[in-house]
Amino acid sequence: KQFCTSTTEKKGRVGLVTLNRPKSLNALSDGLISEINSAVKLFQEDKDVGSIIITGSEKAFAAGADIKEMEKVTLPDAYNNDLLAQWHDLTKIRKPIIAAVNGYALGGGCELAMMCDIIIAGEKAVFGQPEIKLGTIPGCGGTQRLIRAIGKSKAMELVLTGNNLTAVEAEKAGLVSKVVPVEELLTEATKMAEKIASYSQLTVAMAKEAVNASYELTLQEGIRFERRMFHSTFGTHDQKEGMNAFVEKRTPTWHNK
Ligand code: HXC
Repeated sequence: KQFCTSTTEKKGRVGLVTLNRPKSLNALSDGLISEINSAVKLFQEDKDVGSIIITGSEKAFAAGADIKEMEKVTLPDAYNNDLLAQWHDLTKIRKPIIAAVNGYALGGGCELAMMCDIIIAGEKAVFGQPEIKLGTIPGCGGTQRLIRAIGKSKAMELVLTGNNLTAVEAEKAGLVSKVVPVEELLTEATKMAEKIASYSQLTVAMAKEAVNASYELTLQEGIRFERRMFHSTFGTHDQKEGMNAFVEKRTPTWHNK
């Protein structure tokens, strides 16, 4: 489907969202964020979709929140409208989301990528939180998720200096799972998304929920949660099928139940 500033399509079991505001390097306007949210919600409801990719263009994944839209916002505007609140809707999606990043992922663009579950980068990708240069600070999880991804010293450097990370630096720091040639980005992301989508959607969702719980819980609580989720898999058809298929040396057929 063609929206104003993005397109969505289904490639087999993978839902693809492509940001498309080339004139502003995919700056994330309110409208574009709404479109992304609608697209991922539709993919969440679509039983044929097992995983989702969000990508941009070769030049930019997204160069940040839309500065032109934010420039004149006052504090009462921001507070009354709970500015940026809708961005977090993405984190409520239970299917895995891969950010396939070529070019700039700056400010809100970097934060959008970090709200996804896996980041794959093209060799020329650039990650950063340059808000400090604009007299503001990251407002969509940058100060919280970056430190968890790359540690305090590097996170502080990015947030306080506005310095960027190259794709290779981002991979070394643990922000990015994999760096691939620019032109192979979507192919590689799709391969990974297809692999995820080929498993039981039920088990995949449980795995994602368990990993994400580590953001919120202490180690002891997290391990307890993991163990209970693990126990839960034994109440599913797909655990019986998966283990039985291994024993019988055949390919499992998942039923998502
Ligand atoms: C609005 C933007 C934009 C943005 C680029 N553009 N980034 N418009 N919001 N975030 C527009 C430019 O104004 C310009 O429009 C066109 O896109 C092309 O950009 P150029 O600057 O001419 O391109 P280039 O010289 O290649 O430089 C690329 C760039 C630079 C290094 C990425 O555009 C840049 O620094 N952008 C801002 C990055 C940034 O500060 N991001 C954080 C935003 S604040 P015209 O009309 O002039 O041709 C943020 C807050 C987060 O994200 C809060 C939580 C979400």
